[in-house]
Amino acid sequence: MDTAEISKARMVSKSHDVESSWDDEFKKLVQNFPKERSWAGSNLYFYQGFWCPSLVLKAFISFQKHFQAFNSDVIVATFPKCGTTWLKALTFSTLYRNQFPWDENPLLTFGPHQLVRFFEYDLYLNNPFPDLQNVCAYQPRLFSTHAPYATLPTSIKDSGCKIVYICRNPMDMFISLWLFAAKLRDKNRESLSLDEAFDKFYHGIFAHGPFFDHVLGYWKASQENPNKILFLNFEDLKEDMDSHLKNLAMFLGVPFTDDEEKQGVVEKIAKICSFENLKELEVNKKGVHTTGIPHTHFFRKGEVGDWSNYLTPFMIECLEKLIQEKLNGSGLTFKLSSKTSNNIASP
Ligand code: A3P
Repeated sequence: MDTAEISKARMVSKSHDVESSWDDEFKKLVQNFPKERSWAGSNLYFYQGFWCPSLVLKAFISFQKHFQAFNSDVIVATFPKCGTTWLKALTFSTLYRNQFPWDENPLLTFGPHQLVRFFEYDLYLNNPFPDLQNVCAYQPRLFSTHAPYATLPTSIKDSGCKIVYICRNPMDMFISLWLFAAKLRDKNRESLSLDEAFDKFYHGIFAHGPFFDHVLGYWKASQENPNKILFLNFEDLKEDMDSHLKNLAMFLGVPFTDDEEKQGVVEKIAKICSFENLKELEVNKKGVHTTGIPHTHFFRKGEVGDWSNYLTPFMIECLEKLIQEKLNGSGLTFKLSSKTSNNIASP
């Protein structure tokens, strides 16, 4: 078995083991939750309006119950496959850029998921009370989550902490997730066909789905409170990284100085966090995340519009209608390709 096979086996067994490790009280709690199969073959439980993977259900509830935000905290919130890895790298490098010598950027030796740790997929995974004082090497504290906005602990919503969110057009997100799930799937089970996955995607049944509820939850919150939530798009970052990085730095309260801009710091951050650079780093080729997922699975193509190589005309038509319907009146727009004409805006 190679490293990817071992990791896949470990990931799958973790998802199965986790349910047998639940105590009676927890089993009783979840027995009434609607249940479905995830695309990778483990269970999903419908909890507070979203499909939560069994692997992180208990951790997620611990996080909800016990996490106390500081006003200075920064949280990277994302929907899976929308650019989490990229946004972690960008936020880390921007926020802490003056806390380490540039040629010693920790991104060169640690994966983005090791530097910006998930609440539910990491810190609370095996411990309902992790020591959060000592898990962040730099200040202010920087964490991440896939939790929908409505389910965040009150202290995150009510404190002065900041949230950086990234979304991506649902067609690319869908293909990225489908291919990712196939890599995680137990080798004794056949991967989900594109048709099967599409049907589940359309009905919002996949880890952390429904997608639109997640995106619109953060979108509306960011409209109401733009100083608290910065809402970014994968496609916009691809198109114009520099201006979005400057906005990010401003939002985080660490704007780039004129000197930094003259010295090309913005471009340097963009470059170190680029897909091409991160994908080739030794740590991202070999390392394995706490959940057992090899870091390399988080880097595939990193492009806008790759969906056109997979989706059938029928799927495209259904998704275009769905996007129109879901975004109706929200003011949110998705760019479906790098060509500006191929966009779906809300009316
Ligand atoms: P693709 O599968 O379309 O290539 P997440 O980090 O939320 O899991 O998202 C993974 C997606 O982001 C994958 O998309 C991956 O290739 C892409 N990605 C990872 N790092 C990136 C980077 N630095 N720049 C652009 N895209 C990146």
